[in-house]
Amino acid sequence: MTLQDWMNATAAQLDESGVFLGHGTDNSWDEALHLTLPLLDIPFDADPSVLQRVLTDDELSRLQVAREQRIARRIPTPYITRQAWFCGLPFYVDERVLIPRSPLGELIDDGFYPWLQHEPARILDLCCGSACIAIACAEAFPSAEVDAADISADALAVAAVNVGQYQLQGRLQLLESDMFSGVGNKRYDLIVCNPPYVDADDMAALPDEYRHEPELALASGADGLDFTRRLLREAADHLTGNGILIVEVGNSAEALERLFPAVPFVWLEFQRGGDGVFLLTAQDLQQCKGGFA
Ligand SMILES: C[S@@+](CC[C@H](N)C(=O)[O-])C[C@H]1O[C@@H](n2cnc3c(N)ncnc32)[C@H](O)[C@@H]1O
Repeated sequence: MTLQDWMNATAAQLDESGVFLGHGTDNSWDEALHLTLPLLDIPFDADPSVLQRVLTDDELSRLQVAREQRIARRIPTPYITRQAWFCGLPFYVDERVLIPRSPLGELIDDGFYPWLQHEPARILDLCCGSACIAIACAEAFPSAEVDAADISADALAVAAVNVGQYQLQGRLQLLESDMFSGVGNKRYDLIVCNPPYVDADDMAALPDEYRHEPELALASGADGLDFTRRLLREAADHLTGNGILIVEVGNSAEALERLFPAVPFVWLEFQRGGDGVFLLTAQDLQQCKGGFA
């Protein structure tokens, strides 16, 4: 069997099985590619002639196990290959972390233009998971000191693998922290946060694929805003005077607007898809502080 034969058969089976595509691809061919190429150590930019390569028995049996895991057990592809892409960078992932997919990646690629007035000296990635956001920020701003905080020691163990892979130990610090508890009294020019924000109704309706991800990374109370309410109360104390806070809340955006109608949330727009990301300045947060109580 050639790689082309395998790819055709796998894309067709993925289509027929009705697997949910929400972890890095939006069609069965790409899903099959992402499932197959990393397991064969073939780069994504390989010459298309690689498709004519004949698979060995050993390769075929490894690929069959992977396809079975994806289709029968609905395991998301990145957990099978142990690889996910964010801001064009590969990251190690496993079931201890959410699979990177935040629209915040587009803001990092654009250097947070036009929202940052100068290059940030200190950045915090709060709720860092695999540290994909922190690492992409460190790559985008080579002089910045970056902290990456998460409540989960398991997630931080995965983050440490990625920080090592990018050799950022000297400039990127991992902190075990419930919200800001482990951050001390440091202040940041930029706080970026992709927290848990799925509400109870959406949690109950999640496709099977998402049930392989840590619940701690997704669920945040009845309206999905338990974490964000606390964050809004505390964030001003951790920003510099010109600092900004950028937070993803996805589908919980409407509930947040209803909860705090007087807060001047700036809802950011994305070319590559995604929504439910707001920006607030340190001054906005300071002024609204009483209203978050
Ligand atoms: C949606 S995931 C985001 C992971 C990563 N930033 C990304 O975009 O792929 C949310 C993360 O928040 C962490 N988390 C949940 N509650 C937290 C808390 N109270 N303080 C700090 N981190 C928390 C979870 O462990 C999880 O890693």
